[in-house]
This record gives sequence, C-alpha cells and structure tokens, in this order.
Amino acid sequence: MKVAVIGTGYVGLVTGVVLADLGNDVICVDNNVEKVAKLRAGIPPIYEPGIEEILKRTLSDGFLTISDSIAFAVEASEVIFIAVGTPSADDGTPDLTAVRGVATAIGKSIADLARRGTDLHKVIVNKSTVPVGSGELVEQIVLNQGVDPSLFDVVSNPEFLREGSAIRDTMQPDRILIGAKRREAAVKLVDLYATLERPILITDLNSAELIKYASNSFLAMKISFINAISRICEECGANVSDVAKGMGADARIGSQFLQAGLGWGGSCFPKDVTGLIKTAEQFGYDFSLIKEVVAINDDQTLHFMRRLEAKIGGFKGRRIGLMGLAFKPNTDDIRDAKSLIMIEQILAGGGVICAFDPIASEHVKVLYPDIEYTHSVYDVSKDADAIVLVTEWNEFRQLDLKRLAEPMKTKILFDGRRAYTRANAERAGFEYFTIGG
Ligand code: UGA
Repeated sequence: MKVAVIGTGYVGLVTGVVLADLGNDVICVDNNVEKVAKLRAGIPPIYEPGIEEILKRTLSDGFLTISDSIAFAVEASEVIFIAVGTPSADDGTPDLTAVRGVATAIGKSIADLARRGTDLHKVIVNKSTVPVGSGELVEQIVLNQGVDPSLFDVVSNPEFLREGSAIRDTMQPDRILIGAKRREAAVKLVDLYATLERPILITDLNSAELIKYASNSFLAMKISFINAISRICEECGANVSDVAKGMGADARIGSQFLQAGLGWGGSCFPKDVTGLIKTAEQFGYDFSLIKEVVAINDDQTLHFMRRLEAKIGGFKGRRIGLMGLAFKPNTDDIRDAKSLIMIEQILAGGGVICAFDPIASEHVKVLYPDIEYTHSVYDVSKDADAIVLVTEWNEFRQLDLKRLAEPMKTKILFDGRRAYTRANAERAGFEYFTIGG
C-alpha cells in the first residue's frame, strides 16, 4: 500500500519504518530539514534499539522515502498518518497546533489534486495521541480547505508502543485499534495491518481516542497504586515485590506495571493522564481518582529524597552519585525523568552531583552543564556520601557492588528501582535503602 507518515518522532518514525519493512511504499515527512538530512543518510534522530538497521535497510531497498513536502506525500499516498507531537499546554490540555497545521496542509493538497482533476480518495489517520473530538476537528479542517467529503475519511488509530521496545511493540501489538465513521475507511487500515496477524478492534472515532487516554491512565494508576502500597510496606515491614507478585498472580489484576519505584515519567503518561483529567472536566466530570494517581506520583520521588536527605544529614556539602538519568532503560529520553527532580533537590540543598547514564548524559548536560558526568558507572561512587540507583539499566543489575562501595566516603546505597537485593548490597558493605521495604 502507498502510505505517508507525517512527523518523524518516536511514533511516526517507528510506524514508517515498520510499514516500509512490511513491503509498503512509505514516505516519511518532517518539516525539520536537519532531521530530514539525517534520516536520508540512515541516521535516526532518536535512540531506539533496532531502528537504525531497519531505517538503513528500507531506504536502500527503496521502500522508504524521506521528504519535507506534505504535498508530495499526499499526492503519492492512499493512507496518510498524522504522527506529530501533542505536548501539554500550560493548562495541561494537549496543544494541537501541529495537528491543526498538518491537517490544513493535507486539506490544501487534496483540494489542489481535486482541482487538477486527479481521481482520488485519501484516508487520513490520526496516530498522535489526541483528545476526544480530534478526529472531528481534523475532518472539519480538511473540509474548510474546500475538499469534497467524498474524497477523504478521517480515522483514529492510536499507538501503544513503548519507548525502548518500540519496534517489537509495533510488529506485535496486543491490539490494533481503529476508530472510524465509515466501515470502508476502517477496512483500508485492516488491509494495511492484516499481515501482522494481531487482534483488530474497530470502534467509532471518539471511543478510539478515549481508549488511548484511558489505557495510559489505567497503567499509571496501577503504578501509583503499588507505589502507595510501597509506603505502607516501608512502615509495616512488608516487602512490596512480594505483595505485587501475590496480587499479580490473580489473572484479573495481572503482574505487569506493578513494579514499585520512583514513579512514572516519560513523554506519555504525564501528558495523557493530565489530558484525561482535562477531557473529563470538559464533559462535566471531576475525575478525582486520576487526580490522586498524579498526587501519589508527584510525591513518590520526593519521599525517597526526604529519606536520603534525612539519612545523610542534609545535602549541604554532600557528594551524591546518580546511576542512570533516562526516564527508563533503553532510551535516551529524559522527559519527566526522575533524575531531574533529584538533581534539582540536591543542588537546591547545596549538594554536589556526579552522574552516569549509558546514553542520556548528553541531554542532561544541556540542562545542567556544571554537574560531573563520568564515563563509567563505577566512577560515580568515588568519594560519594551516597549513591542512588535512578534508572534500572540492565548493565547496572550485575555490578560488582564491592567495587562500587569501596571508594565511597560512606557506603550508602539508595535503590530507587529495587534492582538489588538487600542481602547482596549488605554483603558488599552497603547500608541499603529501597522503596517498599
Ligand atoms: C507508555 C505506554 O506503556 C505505551 O503503551 C504507550 O504507547 C506510550 O506510553 C505512549 O503513549 O506513547 P512509555 O512511556 O514509552 O510507554 O513507557 P512505559 O514502559 O510505559 O513506562 C512509563 C513509566 O512508567 C516509566 O517512567 C517507567 O519507569 C514507569 N513504570 C513502568 C513503573 O514505574 N513501574 C512499572 O511497573 C512500569
């Protein structure tokens, strides 16, 4: 099938290369000329395991074209994905400026093709996470460009990929969700995805848009729930991992997203959870449950830092080693990363920071150029008063804890991800503190 993907962020680029890898003719479009040049050279602008290989292969096999022209991509394609960013505006509502701009350009291009007498029908697909009603909005914008309603359909097809495992998630999604007004439009996408052989759910536009917000908010709720349980565990001496295992063994609850830690971050949960609260408000409902999910999350890292501060007698003059800076492993993304909250707290308290991350340090350096960044995780503990495990990178799991402890001023380990066992840490000479007992 001939496909255009507008926007080459995580969602757009991964969708584009995967569809190209399945043998579709894909044009990925971006208005950032630097990005376009990089992509044409086979260099992905994001870090994502496996993406570079597929990008290079699909480019050289001719299935993937990179362009900066929406008009060119619209003319060549039957299906046009909108995959541009929808960041939160200051009041927490999603900022749809980019979606509006792209929809306008698509509408203009279709109107122009129709004027030239081209025989056409386009399916415009909202892949970006957008609030309920955005499908209707895109449809209206395209109509406003003078396009006849018979020439296009708007479909919602939210993405459920996770950063760090985006290729696999796109190749093997739990479900493919298609929201459409007309059956024929949905069938077009069913044809596109049929080869993946995954469950496909067809709904109306608004339901599909709400499913995305509801799913991310539900997952965030699971994490906040187990983090709230971790607070009780810390007081009563229970072990939160055992509690999560016991709960998760019930198939109705499930064991995924019950890993207690520093709380959820990243580019999606914070934005989508707030988006759902705002959507509820818009329709006259006060979603107090989800507000509390946010409040629990906001306090989770702060609570951990209060424990650290109390243990070392305040941050003033203390040297703290941070292990991991990315919001989660296998990504260089630091959006809403817990490391940033920690850095703020430690610096505000007069402490000194030494940090290591396998790939995210460069991004943090832009925000905090004066922090010490090391080339090896073992170097963060040198002369440190305490070290903190912030991101549970695999390469941190089997560290030589004795070697890590040895050069420290005081051997204190705060494990924000429950990556180590108390027995191993204590054997290495650490005083060990973690979340949830
Ligand atoms: C999330 C969803 O999992 C995807 O399905 C969705 O497509 C994506 O948002 C999106 O809307 O684009 P992502 O943000 O990449 O994906 O990362 P997750 O693996 O879901 O992790 C989110 C946060 O939750 C991270 O901060 C992670 O550390 C935290 N987390 C996750 C926990 O604290 N405990 C857990 O058990 C799981």
